[in-house]
Amino acid sequence: MTSNPYPLGLRLHGRRVVVVGGGAVATRRVPALLDAGADVLLVAPELTPALRARVDAGRLHWVPRRFAPEDLDGAWLVHVAIDDPIAAASVSAVAAERRIFCVRADDRTAATAWTPAVTRHGPVTVAVFGGGDPRRAMTVRDAIRDLLAVRLAPGGIAGRPDPSTGMTGGRQAGRVALVGAGPGDPELITVKGWRLLTEADVVVADRLVPGLLLDELRPDVELVDASKIPYGPSRAQEEINQILVDRALAGAVVVRLKGGDPYVFGRGGEELLACAAAGVPVTVVPGVTSSIAAPAAAGIPVTHRGVAHEFTVVSGHLAPDAPASLVRWDALAGLHGTLVILMGLKNLAAITATLIAHGRSPQTPAAVVQEATTGTQRVLRSTLGEVAADLRAADLRPPAVVVVGDVVGALDG
Ligand SMILES: C[S@@+](CC[C@H](N)C(=O)[O-])C[C@H]1O[C@@H](n2cnc3c(N)ncnc32)[C@H](O)[C@@H]1O
Repeated sequence: MTSNPYPLGLRLHGRRVVVVGGGAVATRRVPALLDAGADVLLVAPELTPALRARVDAGRLHWVPRRFAPEDLDGAWLVHVAIDDPIAAASVSAVAAERRIFCVRADDRTAATAWTPAVTRHGPVTVAVFGGGDPRRAMTVRDAIRDLLAVRLAPGGIAGRPDPSTGMTGGRQAGRVALVGAGPGDPELITVKGWRLLTEADVVVADRLVPGLLLDELRPDVELVDASKIPYGPSRAQEEINQILVDRALAGAVVVRLKGGDPYVFGRGGEELLACAAAGVPVTVVPGVTSSIAAPAAAGIPVTHRGVAHEFTVVSGHLAPDAPASLVRWDALAGLHGTLVILMGLKNLAAITATLIAHGRSPQTPAAVVQEATTGTQRVLRSTLGEVAADLRAADLRPPAVVVVGDVVGALDG
């Protein structure tokens, strides 16, 4: 007769957990144990490379031999992650003798503990038992994960931070998240960025943020379009900083959503400093930057074995001879690797001429990728000597990334 398992959250921080076996099952189980802070002892004659890397990084202890009863000294929990039923049974017999709960990969019915199928959403962990059928547990877990990902509703479990934390005088403490939205395809935001977006009261969005992400915000979210803020560019940045600080101090969860990565020509650093100066807590969520994603979307790897050992990302928003330019174009011309130029269309003729004047061959392959990863992506392939003229003829427009280097043709068949 099987009775229902009793669900429990184990607090394993600093507590010894023994994992017997060093194969695929152990490789899957160990990360969650480490994430819970467990003191993991791995007993196995051999390890997978992934486990070996964790041992080498000092994240867990490894006893390189078969199991011996004394391995369970001081243990709170044991995972048996081996196929051999006789060896597994002998481990669980020792565990039972010592009243240590034992998870068995080879035989769930013989185990004294089961691992549930899990989905994690920030502070919320959902664990599902399928009555002994792991596939049923995973199907239910996947359905719950999808529900949480599409945000149940305002105030739903995915829709708000834990009300037991961050309260000030009975009111929710505000905070700011600087979130990279990725280059254009709404699916290229990170899982964490997406989750924070579902928790936002206020979203302050840049022009290059994927529109579909905004389309999916809850109706009650205040959307501030940062690209429409008047006054010159520097004043506009001050205004944005002020909006972030004011809303957060008023108790709002503010997401500052920026195209690509917040710290790649994104002024994220200035916003972080402004929030810090006002005592507003800030989380920074990196994003998929267009400087790598745009070439990739056009079939161009920024590095390729035997072709490029470096890639350099540079802003072309100032002409090479502009007094305020911080870029050493003469030095860049001497590099053999890949040059990725953002915001460079307007000055492309001057940039390419400068690179050629300082020694980069005009025959170097070059490409321009406009609106990468979106349905309107366009790609132009050319050479350093001709790309500026070709760009005008093709009427390509910002946002676009220019790639210079032999990698441009590296994947051509
Ligand atoms: C102010 S910078 C912001 C860069 C952004 N933080 C990032 O990491 O991708 C804007 C420039 O990024 C590039 N860019 C951004 N999104 C792009 C896209 N989808 N396709 C091509 N270039 C893009 C263009 O060069 C554009 O002028």
